[in-house]
Amino acid sequence: MIQGKFPNTGFIEPIISESDSPSKVKSIGSNHATGLQDSSLDLSEENLMLKDTQAVSSWMKPDVDGGDSLVSRTLQADGSKVSDFDSDVPKILVVDDHAASRLTAVALLAMEGYEVIEADRGSIVVELVTQKQPDLILLDVMMPGMDGFEVCQLLKQDEQTRLIPVIFITALNDRRSRIRGIEVGADDFLSKPFDRVELSARVKSLVRQKRLNEDLDHAEKVLFSIGIAIESRDPNTGDHCHRLIKLGQAFGEYLQLSRNQIRDLVWGGYLHDIGKVGIPDSVLLKCGKLTSQEWEIMRQHVLIGEKICQPLRSLRGVIPIIRHHHERWNGSGYPDALKGNEIPYLAQVFQITDIYDALTSERPYKRAFSSEEALVVMLEETALGWRNPVLMQQFVEFIHCWQEVE
Ligand SMILES: [Fe+2]
Repeated sequence: MIQGKFPNTGFIEPIISESDSPSKVKSIGSNHATGLQDSSLDLSEENLMLKDTQAVSSWMKPDVDGGDSLVSRTLQADGSKVSDFDSDVPKILVVDDHAASRLTAVALLAMEGYEVIEADRGSIVVELVTQKQPDLILLDVMMPGMDGFEVCQLLKQDEQTRLIPVIFITALNDRRSRIRGIEVGADDFLSKPFDRVELSARVKSLVRQKRLNEDLDHAEKVLFSIGIAIESRDPNTGDHCHRLIKLGQAFGEYLQLSRNQIRDLVWGGYLHDIGKVGIPDSVLLKCGKLTSQEWEIMRQHVLIGEKICQPLRSLRGVIPIIRHHHERWNGSGYPDALKGNEIPYLAQVFQITDIYDALTSERPYKRAFSSEEALVVMLEETALGWRNPVLMQQFVEFIHCWQEVE
């Protein structure tokens, strides 16, 4: 219940009275607020129009005794202040077990024109975020069960939710929480009691940033699609990309690489040959042996691929894979004839999976080798000095373990 007034902003200072029965989740449409008719926010019935009630989603357990109410409501306030985001009204998720504090944030955001969803505990947030895909999360630190840090960490580790900005709601001068928040990936912090202007500015800025990041993310996905399309044009490779992604991820995990390194290996599966888009069909699709001049053209694909992906900062970890996946340990590869550990490690790891998949797949010019036959060929090539012998041995061990698991 809201009982006081925040003197500096004219907005409420929530003096907490937890008599409100907790609700797990309420989904509230843009420009609305709920249950604040008697507050000094002036969010009265004149300004707020109840539009829809009882839209209980499948992920909400319906209220049966009024003590754990899960009613979803949409209320409409007059006018919208969110005008920077075209017709796509940003969705904000407010997570706070403290009802008065949560409703304050909900009311302020609704007044700004955002669509607001609210939840009163951390344990449902991950599922809720997956379903609702909010543009920003306002997250309380201390909550019973799963606290805000744990929630944030889970969201930031997940490829699907990592781009959603998280603002932690902390007490003023709570330095420890802020440091912990930074460690788990928080994007910003806000102190209670809320300053409306500060809340508005931070939310608007982070939502804009998130939309820009999404544009970049979409650009990555377009490149992945191009990578797969190129692969599908090449009659030699078949479903090479998808197999490589699976193999790269498994080998990366076996080698206990970092999350980012494994992600780069996976992206390398999509993008390593994207430069073939610049290779003429007469060379790329030629049946039969390439002339030395045609080989020279074909080798350009690693440089073309690097040029295509270089502008995207998020792909910087994949660039070494794209450029160097045809180097050889003894320096007889291309494009830079790098030797030994001059070859970036991820390019070495990726190359091994790339060659294994090529050998174990059927191609127009060869049958699919069995796993053991492929490993024999690769070990022979390692003896010739083409590959890192230590890594090759690890790959042999990995394949034996992997086959048992598969
Ligand atoms: Fe290649």
